[in-house]
Amino acid sequence: MNISVFVSGRGSNLQALMDSADSGYLKSRIALVLSNVADAAALVRSQRNRIPSRYIPQKFFEREALSALRESSVDLVCLAGFMRILSGDFIRAASVPILNVHPSLLPAFPGLNAQKKALEHGVRVSGATVHLVDELVDHGPIISQAPVPVFEKDDVESLSERIMREEHRIYPMAVRWFAEGRIRIESDRVLMDNLPPETNHGNLAAD
Ligand code: GRF
Repeated sequence: MNISVFVSGRGSNLQALMDSADSGYLKSRIALVLSNVADAAALVRSQRNRIPSRYIPQKFFEREALSALRESSVDLVCLAGFMRILSGDFIRAASVPILNVHPSLLPAFPGLNAQKKALEHGVRVSGATVHLVDELVDHGPIISQAPVPVFEKDDVESLSERIMREEHRIYPMAVRWFAEGRIRIESDRVLMDNLPPETNHGNLAAD
């Protein structure tokens, strides 16, 4: 499976995906990295891993990304800190699944500053979600979630750090399930075939 990763920033999830591809865990190749931010640290990471990488200004992003996806025969797109909403036209025209990782247990706290919102609400548990992308913000069929405890002494940084570790674990896991053909979508819900029982339908435990 050929994967394209869309980025805008630091690229720690991109790094987790590249490391999982290098180790053979992903059973896929990261074929293309596209950024809508010229100086994104993520681009430095992908170039270091010798992955074809391009900056596309936001104004042309969707049009040029579509042709780039076709040229590289991409089968799956992963958003990893990509800070723009993709249009419905793009999602339909791409005609490959598009995944996103978000630092909360969706549908709680979509949008920016999810960790800050979790702290402000005083939730005892937050977490990370990998989901299929639709036209709405941080919305679409959920593939995998991992809960993370929230402690009284937490600030945004410490909570983000704890959630991030789970993002880096469940994102490659969800991509691997795609590569293995285990993911089915029925009535806007993700169903998974032949998962090891200890994964609890894609959550909690590593496979
Ligand atoms: C992550 O917290 C991800 O969940 C959110 O944006 C952040 C990106 O971080 N969508 P990085 O660029 O992958 O380090």
